[in-house]
Amino acid sequence: MTSTLPGSPFLAYRDGALHLEDVRLQDVAAQHGTPLFVYSKAAMLSALAAYQRGFQGRRAKVHYAMKANSSLAVLQVFANAGCGFDIVSGGELERVLAAGGQAKDVIFSGVGKTRAEMRQALTAGISCFNVESEAELDVLNEVAVACGKTAPVSLRVNPNVDPKTHPYISTGLKGNKFGVAHERTLQAYQHAASLPGLKVVGIDCHIGSQITTIEPYVDAVDKVLDLVVQIEAAGIPIHHLDFGGGLGIDYNGDTPPAADALWARLLARLDERGFGDRQLMIEPGRSLVGNAGVCLAEVQFLKPGETKNFCIIDAAMNDLPRPAMYEAFHQIVPLSVRTGAGAVYDVVGPVCESGDWIGRDRSLSVQAGDLLAVLSAGAYCMSMASNYNTRGRAAEVLVDGATVHLIRQRETVQDQMRGEQLVG
Ligand code: LLP
Repeated sequence: MTSTLPGSPFLAYRDGALHLEDVRLQDVAAQHGTPLFVYSKAAMLSALAAYQRGFQGRRAKVHYAMKANSSLAVLQVFANAGCGFDIVSGGELERVLAAGGQAKDVIFSGVGKTRAEMRQALTAGISCFNVESEAELDVLNEVAVACGKTAPVSLRVNPNVDPKTHPYISTGLKGNKFGVAHERTLQAYQHAASLPGLKVVGIDCHIGSQITTIEPYVDAVDKVLDLVVQIEAAGIPIHHLDFGGGLGIDYNGDTPPAADALWARLLARLDERGFGDRQLMIEPGRSLVGNAGVCLAEVQFLKPGETKNFCIIDAAMNDLPRPAMYEAFHQIVPLSVRTGAGAVYDVVGPVCESGDWIGRDRSLSVQAGDLLAVLSAGAYCMSMASNYNTRGRAAEVLVDGATVHLIRQRETVQDQMRGEQLVG
């Protein structure tokens, strides 16, 4: 018997055992230990295919926002599938190159690029700097002139659209640090066009993350197009339009539009306004990898309490920081279905913080030693993992059909102490 879980068609119970693609997750945990991130290659490619379907027949490029999951083998999957990359640091650029990606397919976002990072990206030959302030234009110009290069630039505009998501991940509203204010955009473009080390190539926006409705995107498209009209009327051509990332995934019965449905609607709007044949770019992160991954953990102890029962697992806030940071919800399910009455638990990790919880008030039928899967853990989990409490970061595996590839070894204490020194 097969029953599929929400979020990913590649994750299902077969005869009571949770499988990702054709791999029984208990077997992977037995082989590689826990906590363990397990990703499905087919799930990533199928998420990408939805965008590719949406853009069929258009001039469009998907730049995977690799902050969501920057593990080399994950980047390799997307590089081989023809994606470019949206990076936010020099380190991310090095990862792209190490994974077989090419600098010409890279765009560089972020509010605080250093001069060294600008030089590194110029020398590598990236395709565009997504500039986030007028001050950054001046510094990038200086760096480019000093290197004898011209920096291709797009300005990230802040369309002042409410994406109706968590305040920490909404980025397109007035009053947050991202982008150039709508009202200052024309001036900023005129300034950019006057600088000898810069070449204006595009415009971009990114309004937030885990967006589950189409409307904020339609608003953002309209506002960006209004700006393009203004900027081009001032004699500055805009070659590409980049609408950022942000499409949400199903964590807990969320119903974001499918990527192709979203783009059918946005392309219709672009066509209506006469911009349908422009070079388009997007920067999705979460929607490409979020539902492609799970984190496996073992139940260490059950601890009944007067007001709460605790289920203490071996994964913690250092592996899965989203609940502690955003009160985010991740489903937690057993790898092997146990019959019998369960209880309601707070599922927590071993880290010495009350904020170290992974799920609250979850009905589970479990015993110590059981294995659990924390779902929708492909995005913003491993890439945000830390060594807090001197916990080594988890191992990662990539599943491809029935094949299991170890893509990152479990971090050892020696790995963690490398580079540290005693005094004297
Ligand atoms: N482009 C830019 C400029 C971004 O800042 C981001 C994400 C993306 C693209 C990709 O957005 P996505 O498609 O993944 O929503 N750690 C948070 C999410 C932070 C998102 C930051 N920016 C979380 O775990 O919910």
